[in-house]
Amino acid sequence: MYYSDELIEEVRSKNDIVDVISGYVRLQKKGRDYFGLCPFHNEKSPSFSVSRGKQMYYCFGCGAGGNVFTFLMEYENYSFSEALKFLADRAGVELPAQEYSKEAKERADTKAILLEINKAAAQYYYVQLKNSQGAQAFSYLKNRELSDDTIKAFGLGYSNKYSDDLYQYLRSKGYQADMIAKAGLISVDERQGAYDKFWNRVMFPIMDVNSRVIGFGGRVMGDGKPKYLNSPETMIFDKSRNLYGLHRARSSKKPYFLLCEGYMDVISLHQAGFTNAVASLGTALTPGHASLIKRYVQEVYLTYDSDEAGTRAALRAVPILKEVGITAKIIRMEPYKDPDEFIKNLGADAFEERIHKARNGFMFSLEVLEKNYDMNSPEGKTDFMRETARRLTEFDEEIERNNYIEAVASAYHVGFEDLRKLVSKTAVRAGQAKPAERPKTANGRMKGKEDGMVKSQKILLTWLIEDEAIFRQIEQYITPADFSGDLYRTVAELLYDQYEAGDVNPAKIMNHFSDEEEHREVASLFHTKIRELTTVREQEKALMETVIRVKNHSIEEATKNLESTDMKGLQRLMNAKRELQDLQKLHISIN
Ligand code: GTP
Ligand code: MN
Repeated sequence: MYYSDELIEEVRSKNDIVDVISGYVRLQKKGRDYFGLCPFHNEKSPSFSVSRGKQMYYCFGCGAGGNVFTFLMEYENYSFSEALKFLADRAGVELPAQEYSKEAKERADTKAILLEINKAAAQYYYVQLKNSQGAQAFSYLKNRELSDDTIKAFGLGYSNKYSDDLYQYLRSKGYQADMIAKAGLISVDERQGAYDKFWNRVMFPIMDVNSRVIGFGGRVMGDGKPKYLNSPETMIFDKSRNLYGLHRARSSKKPYFLLCEGYMDVISLHQAGFTNAVASLGTALTPGHASLIKRYVQEVYLTYDSDEAGTRAALRAVPILKEVGITAKIIRMEPYKDPDEFIKNLGADAFEERIHKARNGFMFSLEVLEKNYDMNSPEGKTDFMRETARRLTEFDEEIERNNYIEAVASAYHVGFEDLRKLVSKTAVRAGQAKPAERPKTANGRMKGKEDGMVKSQKILLTWLIEDEAIFRQIEQYITPADFSGDLYRTVAELLYDQYEAGDVNPAKIMNHFSDEEEHREVASLFHTKIRELTTVREQEKALMETVIRVKNHSIEEATKNLESTDMKGLQRLMNAKRELQDLQKLHISIN
C-alpha cells in the first residue's frame, strides 16, 4: 500500500516521540534527553534514551533504535502501515483510503477477518471445554495438573465430536466458508462438503506477541495419532516467525528465555512460575525464531527433551542462536523426559537448580560425544581428547579458544598446557597453518579495519547531525560520496539536503527507510557515543582525526576503483589528496 511522504511525515510530526514512548516506558529527563529501562532487553539501569530534539530513541545497551514508527513496529510487532494507522488515529489525522492499492486493501481486510475468525473459534472452543460435552477434555487437563487459572490464561479449549460444529457456528456468525477455509479451520471436500479440521481434541490457541490468536494446536486425549494436529500456515500464521507463549514471556522480568519443545512444557513452566518459557510451533528452531527472540533477550536456556532427538535438536539450535548473538545454555532434564514431567516430579526449586547448573553448548556437545568412547580406558579417553582438540580448533578467536581449552582441561582433568599443545598440533596436522596465521584470521583482521571505518563514519554522522556549526566547517571537505555503502551515503545525502533547506530533522530521514533493520542502523548512526572525551581539546582532536580518516579511506577506495586511463578522475583524486593535506592544518572548533 502506498502513502505519500508528506502524509507519513505529517503523522510522524504530530506524534511527539517522548509522549508516545511515555505510554510504554517510564522516562526521566536527564540533560537534553529522556532515559528509561529499555523495553527491548532486560536491564537494571537505564540505557534507553529518547530525544525530543531528534525525535528518535536509541538504546546504548542493545542498539535498538529508530523513530516513533520503529518503536511501535518493534514494541507492538506492528507492520509499518499498522504503526502509521495507530499514530494517525492518535493524532486525529485521517488516512485517505484510496491510497491503498486494491490488492493491499484486500489482503489487509482478509487478514483482519482471519484474525476475527480465529478469535471466535478460540472463544467457542473455550466454552465447549466448560460445558458438559467437554467434561472428558476438562478432566484430561485436570489430570495433567493444570489449574483453572492456567487453563484460562492460555485460553485452552475443546473441539467437540461433531464433524462440522465449529463450521456451523462460524457460519451462523456470518463468516463466509472461503474465509473459514483460509483460516485453516475447515477442509472442503467435494463429496462431504465442509468439515472441521479439529475434532475431539484439546485445543491450544496459538497467539502472536500481541495476544492475537493466529492458529491452533489440537492434542488427542490419550494415545491416538497424530498426537498433535496444528493449523496449517495461513496469511496470519507463520510458524517460523512466532513462538508459543511469547505474548506472556515478553513481559517476564528475567534476562533470558527458557526455550522448550512442547506446548505442555511452556504451560507447565508458566504455571510453576517460570513465565519466561516459550516453544517453537512443532517445528525446529529457525533463524526467524532466533531474531524474534533477540528482540527480547540476549540469552536462551534450552530445555529440550532428554531423548536423542531432543539432544540433537538442542545441538542444532545452539549455532542458530549464536549466529544472531544469543548465548545458549542447555538444561538437563534427566532422569525425566521434559520440563513438564520434571516439574511434576521434582518441583520448581529443583528446576531452578538445573537452570543454575546449565552448561554452555560446547561443553554439552562434549558430554554427548563422551558416549561414543570408553572413558575408563586410557585409549578411549585419548581418542576422545583428540576429537575434542579437533573441535577446539574451530574457535577462530584465540581468547575464546583458550577459554574453552581451560574449561575442558578442568572438566576432564587434563593439564591446560598439554591440551593447548594438542590443539595447536591438531590444527597444524589438519593442514591449517598455525592458528594465528590462518587465512580466516587474516580476514578477521581486515574485518576489524572495516569495522573501525564504519565506526568513524558513524561518529562523523552523529557529529554532523548534532551540531550545525561543525557541519558548516566540515561540509566543504566531506561530501555524502565520502561515506561508504548505500545506507550511509543515502543518510548523508538526506542530511546535507536538510541542512541546505534549513530544516534538520533526523526522524524524517528515517521515513525513507522501510524495514526495522535499517531503522536500527540509521538510529545508531545518529547516536554513536562521542562525548566521552572530557575536554573540548580532546574532542576537537578526535573530530579532526575522524574527518581525515574518513576522507583518506574514501580516496583510497576511489583510487582502487579508478581506470588507469581515466585522466579526469586522476586529476580529481589529486585534488582531493591536496585538500586532505590542507585539512591536516585546519582547526575545527567545537563549542
Ligand atoms: P505432551 O506429550 O502432551 O506432554 O505434549 P508435549 O507438548 O510435551 O509434546 P511433545 O514433547 O511430544 O512434542 C513437542 C511438540 O512437537 C508439540 O508441542 C507439538 O508442537 C509438536 N508435535 C508433537 N507431536 C506432533 C504430531 O504428531 N504432529 C505435529 N504436527 N506436531 C507434533
Ligand atoms: Mn510432554
